[in-house]
Amino acid sequence: MPALVLLGAQWGDEGKGKATDLLGGSVDYVVRYQGGNNAGHTVVVGDQKYALHLLPSGILSPGCTPVIGNGVVVDPSVLFSELNGLNDRGVDTSKLLISGNAHIITPYNVTVDKVTERFLGKRKIGTTGRGIGPTYADKINRVGIRIQDLYDESILTQKVEAALDGKNQLLTKVFNRRAIEVGQVVEELLSYADRLKPYVADTVLVLNQALEQDKVVLFEGGQGTLLDIDHGTYPFVTSSNPTAGGACTGAGVGPTKISRVIGILKAYTTRVGSGPFPTELFDEDGDALRRIGGERGVTTGRDRRCGWFDAVIARYATRVNGLTDFFLTKLDVLTGWEQIPVCVAYEIDGRRVEELPYSQTDFHHAKPVYEYLPGWSEDITKAKSFSDLPKNAQDYVKALEEMSGAPISAIGVGPGRDETIEINSFL
Ligand code: GDP
Ligand code: IMO
Ligand code: MG
Repeated sequence: MPALVLLGAQWGDEGKGKATDLLGGSVDYVVRYQGGNNAGHTVVVGDQKYALHLLPSGILSPGCTPVIGNGVVVDPSVLFSELNGLNDRGVDTSKLLISGNAHIITPYNVTVDKVTERFLGKRKIGTTGRGIGPTYADKINRVGIRIQDLYDESILTQKVEAALDGKNQLLTKVFNRRAIEVGQVVEELLSYADRLKPYVADTVLVLNQALEQDKVVLFEGGQGTLLDIDHGTYPFVTSSNPTAGGACTGAGVGPTKISRVIGILKAYTTRVGSGPFPTELFDEDGDALRRIGGERGVTTGRDRRCGWFDAVIARYATRVNGLTDFFLTKLDVLTGWEQIPVCVAYEIDGRRVEELPYSQTDFHHAKPVYEYLPGWSEDITKAKSFSDLPKNAQDYVKALEEMSGAPISAIGVGPGRDETIEINSFL
């Protein structure tokens, strides 16, 4: 069982941080393979709460080597402040490895992200404003800056010049902003080089050698399946591939090495930012889910949009990721509802549709078709095994499993490490 992928099955914030941390003590490497500090992963250990943005959640497990893979985009200033924050709290971060091929989020990419959103007005994506999209755009346009470029000043200067050529035209002529100076950017980037150096490694080689030695590698996705640039609700998505295939390209590990793909699935649904969301609630139930679930963004502090569980999305996540298991989180949040609606299909322009429509127009027209499952009122936060759950909670989980197409192997009943019911072992 050498390589496992753990990823978001919905629109992000499913509880990936907690799930990764739970496995962190039993694996050798935890690897981020895409995204950047748009992610906000919360880990609760005892009475300590950590919010991680760029660092893999395995950083909190002493035996585990955390790795930032080539597919991640790295804002060095954010990385350093995250490392400082953890060091101040006594967490050893010295084992961290960062791919020299990972792209850098430059200050101008953050600027472009923000001005683009402003210009889009009401058509905005609602990005996290962290420069993610523009950095991946530069990567694909072949004008990106990689970590390794920090160690050759001449190449770095040429690359920053190439990247800024077009951008300065755009900034001054379209966005009415001041041009950005090449020298200033190069100076700032070079100032990160020395501190980054000890972490920089050929992570592709390291991870493949580890797998050859039967070490256990866990890939931790950021964002979620429906935010995937190819398989999500485009254009209301992020600019990378959180889906399982992204782990291969974003870390340089072949698909034959991956034996298990775990989808983290919230017992209801949330979304941050713009875009379609069929089961979204605008009533007191939505407010209650937000309040009880603490649904506020870890990165931007925005309120999360909340709605009932959507089995169409879960089935889709099973398919596009080849999920072998689900980790169902936040079941405790649903305690107290007399009955719980679950979306089993959509009605689109008078037709019943069982699977996620590929057409954006259809998805925008999708209305949820609900089945109503009986709720429970007992406190479930102390449950340690499936049989500790009240019958209606057990039936809710079984119904979700049947609709979603993969076994539910763990259930979260609270934010803490030990507030988890393990059904099938992941390792
Ligand atoms: P991530 O981005 O997928 O890592 O998720 P976030 O950390 O952004 O959001 C998940 C939130 O739910 C965090 O505040 C977690 O501490 C919390 N959480 C995770 N699992 C559970 C659970 O089973 N029950 C409850 N009540 N909270 C949970
Ligand atoms: P974690 O890893 C939820 C959303 C943003 C926006 C869209 C594009 O904590 O689950 P971006 O800044 O990536 O270009 O924004 O994606 N988004 C997330 N939503 N959780 C996340 O990460 C997210 N990362 C990005 O809100 O709608
Ligand atoms: Mg999050």
